[in-house]
Amino acid sequence: MDDAVVALTAESVAKSYSRRRPPALSGLDLTIPKGSITALVGPNGAGKSTLMKAWMGFERPSRGRVTVAGVDPFRSRQAAIARVGYIPQSTALYRALSVDDHVELVRTFRPAMDMGLARRRLDDLGIPLTAPAAHLSIGQQAQVSLALVLASRAEILLLDEPLAALDPLARREFLYVLVDGVRSAGATAVLTSHVVTDVEQACDRLVILGAGRKLLDEDVATSMATHRIAAGALPSDAPGTVIASFLGLGEILTLVDVQPDAGDHPALRRATFEELMLGYLAAGRTGLAQRLAGGKGLS
Ligand SMILES: Nc1ncnc2c1ncn2[C@@H]1O[C@H](COP(=O)(O)OP(=O)(O)OP(=O)(O)O)[C@@H](O)[C@H]1O
Ligand SMILES: [Mg+2]
Repeated sequence: MDDAVVALTAESVAKSYSRRRPPALSGLDLTIPKGSITALVGPNGAGKSTLMKAWMGFERPSRGRVTVAGVDPFRSRQAAIARVGYIPQSTALYRALSVDDHVELVRTFRPAMDMGLARRRLDDLGIPLTAPAAHLSIGQQAQVSLALVLASRAEILLLDEPLAALDPLARREFLYVLVDGVRSAGATAVLTSHVVTDVEQACDRLVILGAGRKLLDEDVATSMATHRIAAGALPSDAPGTVIASFLGLGEILTLVDVQPDAGDHPALRRATFEELMLGYLAAGRTGLAQRLAGGKGLS
């Protein structure tokens, strides 16, 4: 892919935190196109946060390299940080600082920040600018982080579980603002989430990690067109590659990856978005990831 249309890359990235534990990332290759909103999903421990931290320059890959807007965040830290807005998985506000102190603080390292936008959003949400961060609920703290990152005018947003602490209405509203903001600014966003409906509403690309490997990396529309579900036993003449079986409502379901032009098979039906995710989560968790690694679509 041409550099002009690429926002983030990972090239053969491996990351080991400890010799005694399996690596967090194992030879990951990934290209995130500019202007996309990508869901980065996978079971707990799959390596999602590690990848985000590598893009931020917080965790150095043991092998391979990452780039952010064409820049290596370990060689050109300032240039990389200037382009990226990041929300870590556990929200990190300074307890003693007020909400407005945070607005001022972000402005010091991101001069293009729209402070008015940040303050208006917080006001709309009923979050007092004078309150110390320590006096806010967990969801309100998450809202402050989101307001800051959206107003920061960063060209790339890395949002690690940004919605986990939000109530359902706040989640929906935030996703609307995120999609609208990213699209109108021509920005790029990657968000991790375990909530299927969030991902389905907001994202146009889907990257699924399992045990530090890439299990799926494609447009959501393509994924939806090429995956089928078999309920119960899978007939031997069913087309495609089995991804994994998982527990449906009272029966075992099997997710199958078929060719785009695969015809109908009486035992297969189209997968819902939730089934697509559950199938890959099951593949990532059961160690099937390694077994399939030599097969189709995996790296
Ligand atoms: N600082 C660290 N030191 C040691 N091991 C770590 C560290 N951070 C992550 N790991 C390990 O790396 C692996 C990947 O962790 P990571 O946080 O990237 O997963 P994740 O996909 O974000 O999971 P979750 O969905 O639970 O947030 C896990 O096995 C984890 O134990
Ligand atoms: Mg994580």
